[in-house]
Amino acid sequence: MIAISAASGALGRLVISHLRSRAEVVAVVRDPERAPEGVPVRHGDYDDPASLREAFDGADRLLLISSPELDPTRRIRQHLAAVAAAKDVGVGAIVFTSFLGADTVATGMTEAYHATEQAILDSGLPYTLLRHPFYSDAFVPQVSSGEITSSTGGRSLNTAFRSDLAEAAANVLTGEGHWGQAYDFTGSLWSYPEVARALEVTYREVPDAVPGPMSWISAQVRAGALERQTPDLERVLGRPAETVISHVLDRHAPQVLQRRRL
Ligand SMILES: NC(=O)c1ccc[n+]([C@@H]2O[C@H](COP(=O)([O-])OP(=O)(O)OC[C@H]3O[C@@H](n4cnc5c(N)ncnc54)[C@H](OP(=O)(O)O)[C@@H]3O)[C@@H](O)[C@H]2O)c1
Repeated sequence: MIAISAASGALGRLVISHLRSRAEVVAVVRDPERAPEGVPVRHGDYDDPASLREAFDGADRLLLISSPELDPTRRIRQHLAAVAAAKDVGVGAIVFTSFLGADTVATGMTEAYHATEQAILDSGLPYTLLRHPFYSDAFVPQVSSGEITSSTGGRSLNTAFRSDLAEAAANVLTGEGHWGQAYDFTGSLWSYPEVARALEVTYREVPDAVPGPMSWISAQVRAGALERQTPDLERVLGRPAETVISHVLDRHAPQVLQRRRL
């Protein structure tokens, strides 16, 4: 049996849709009313260790989907409770959705991911670490007044779509040869000016909007921090990951054709 934690979220639902026909799956959720349909459900709250032990009991494999909690101290406590529960009930193996850089950076955004990876290694359980990039879904460029704008300095991003990351997780959970591996998942590099060229619209660099997570990420992009690429995602998928440019072209094909006719 494969248990998926935080299964009511966007990623969990996608993983379950891939696994449903391939394996016995249990959705672990903190609120059963929000559970995905069509699979058995167990209650498991990252803030309630006893519920996690009951939820993970009997799992051959556990997909531990990271908590959306923003406070690093609480997030670490939640993740470590999940790892401890997995060890207590003897799950067969644990697959964790980590974040790129969590192996070497123990501060800021990756603090909780780093601590969780360490706890998993210390647990002695068979494991696979899936280090995710930023999700493309949140970065798809929007055309507004005939132009695309960003404050990325024209640098490239290695984001990947949730749907591909979910399929990769399902492949790891049902496949062989993944235990003891840490995968650094990245998508194909793309940039906002490239998307503008593909859509035949203007690109304009703009100053950062209000300070916040997105302006922090833009500064990272401008510094080239998202330009690292690995073959891991393509290998685990057995095909190239969906690119942002093809995704946008699919959505905007009629408008591009119309512009060409004008
Ligand atoms: N790489 C990236 O760019 C990126 C972007 C966003 C998020 N993330 C991380 O990836 C994870 C999955 O992404 P997503 O898109 O599926 O996020 P999401 O749609 O926001 O789902 C978050 C999930 O976490 C569950 N959850 C929240 N608190 C919990 C608790 N105390 N105990 C158990 N479950 C709890 C939520 O349950 P409810 O339905 O009950 O609220 C929901 O199922 C996120 O949680 C976050 O850690 C990564």
